[in-house]
Amino acid sequence: MSAFLPFFDPDPETRSARRALRQSEYSFNHAYVSPLALVHDIAGRDRFSIEFTTLVLGKIMTNVANEADADSALRRRLRAMDVPLSHVALAGSTAVRAVSTAVGQLLGAQAAAGRLQSLDDFNSLFHVIGLPPIAQDFHRDETFAELRLSGANPVLIRRIDKLDDRFPVTDADFQITLPGDTLAAAGAEGRLYLVDYQKLDGMETGVAPGGWQKYLYAPLALFAVSKQTRKLTAIAIQCKQRPGVNNPIFTPDDGYNWKIAKTIVEIADGNYHESITHLGRTHLTLEPFIVSAHRQFGLNHPLLILLQPHFEGTLAINNLARLKLISPDGVVDRLLGGTISATLGLSAWGVQGHAFMDLLPMASFRDRGVDDLESLPHYAYRDDSLLHWDAIREWVATYVRCFYRSDEEVAADVELAGWLTEVSAETGGRIRGVTPARNLVELIDVMSLVIFTASAQHAAVNFPQFDIMSYAPAMPLAGYSPAPTKKQGATESDYMSHLPPRDQAVLQMNTGNMLGTAHYTRLGHYGPDYFGEPRIDEMAGRFAAKLDKVEEIIQERNQHRRPYQFMLPSGVPQSINI
Ligand SMILES: [Fe+2]
Repeated sequence: MSAFLPFFDPDPETRSARRALRQSEYSFNHAYVSPLALVHDIAGRDRFSIEFTTLVLGKIMTNVANEADADSALRRRLRAMDVPLSHVALAGSTAVRAVSTAVGQLLGAQAAAGRLQSLDDFNSLFHVIGLPPIAQDFHRDETFAELRLSGANPVLIRRIDKLDDRFPVTDADFQITLPGDTLAAAGAEGRLYLVDYQKLDGMETGVAPGGWQKYLYAPLALFAVSKQTRKLTAIAIQCKQRPGVNNPIFTPDDGYNWKIAKTIVEIADGNYHESITHLGRTHLTLEPFIVSAHRQFGLNHPLLILLQPHFEGTLAINNLARLKLISPDGVVDRLLGGTISATLGLSAWGVQGHAFMDLLPMASFRDRGVDDLESLPHYAYRDDSLLHWDAIREWVATYVRCFYRSDEEVAADVELAGWLTEVSAETGGRIRGVTPARNLVELIDVMSLVIFTASAQHAAVNFPQFDIMSYAPAMPLAGYSPAPTKKQGATESDYMSHLPPRDQAVLQMNTGNMLGTAHYTRLGHYGPDYFGEPRIDEMAGRFAAKLDKVEEIIQERNQHRRPYQFMLPSGVPQSINI
């Protein structure tokens, strides 16, 4: 199909008739996940492809195989009992005593069947799926700091000059980790960083199946870049927003209390990630752009032709999520700390609590004060995002300039203006901060941001769902004990009581394995002759070649840093389809 801007279309009547038909097929629903805008019905053309369905079914079969060979916690416990049993026998004790010990342990195991007793028990859940690498080192403080920069939710860390009254960390606290350094010096030198989960404060928490009360806090976590190592270092954590005697500031010398505090941060991070960063700022933000594009663009509009591959599967996966994941008693309701209505309230804020264009990568890094390579030399998500952004923007600019010769032609495109107007309209997409493009730069920016969000950004926040989040001890999606009120004295058993019980851990693992490993389509691979014009297909080929170069750069960077795999172009899909 030849691409035409509206004012050059040689057959405006056919264009108009097809557009009217599309408007009858795609309409907004504001009640499904109020106040957000979703498509009312899924058209046949938007259903999952056979290839995608086959891919996901394969993931589900792995989960089934893993579960069919399950009961692993109990089996491991029985295996472990062989040792004391043989020790008892070797020590010459009576057989009665040995059997009594074994039976006692087994009864204990049954009584506590809902709880996993050790990290080994969590590890053994993955016997077919295979343990994600995070299981090896999630407990290290270096990993805890690193996950703020290259973890599942690497979008929250912010540079600060000094702490406010909510988080009264002292120099003595600070110097436990960085002796000889001070808060004031770190603040003045751009080395002080905060992760603040204030948005979660006061959230109503839910109850997991089996009657397990869930806990979710709004912690504050302080980090500093060490003058010596130039690495981000964990300094202190406060589990709740308001300081007080029952809300201590934990530091790395606090034993299991520190481990618990780190876990409480990971729980908050997991909830922020799923509701705001992932569901809100990728899946649900793009849906209105897709619905409106179908309604407003002629089928042969060049922008729709460019966008279509970046929209594949999004309406279908969002519809499935609405019915199965974010429904009452669905997976999100079961796993996340908040009630489903509280979680969806966060998602709505994720979509509507900011202007869409604030998500421009450089604007976002600048706003958080993390754009400066001198102050924060190592930030994998930032560095790899910018590679993608540059490649995508260059491709979009080249493509757009093939069709629009001037700013005036951009401003005169009524279908383009209709798209962006409807995306932000109260009766339409309800996305804030989107206005009709007045010139080429504005058009290129908004198109690039839509494509970046659909591809690289979604990949960055979707694929950690297996590598990091499927392993519940690394990032539990809810806590199962209240936050400690004393600075020290917790035991290993206290720590374990914060982690999800078995059924929740299994659901988190299976969900992570299904959502976090299905890579369907590849960014920049539009298919031979997709654009039907050799000049443009050749430009698309150059975009794919540029992404191959990005792949090489990231591979090379990964030789010198904790490997950051989520934005390797070979694993970045064209669209949000999972
Ligand atoms: Fe996703």
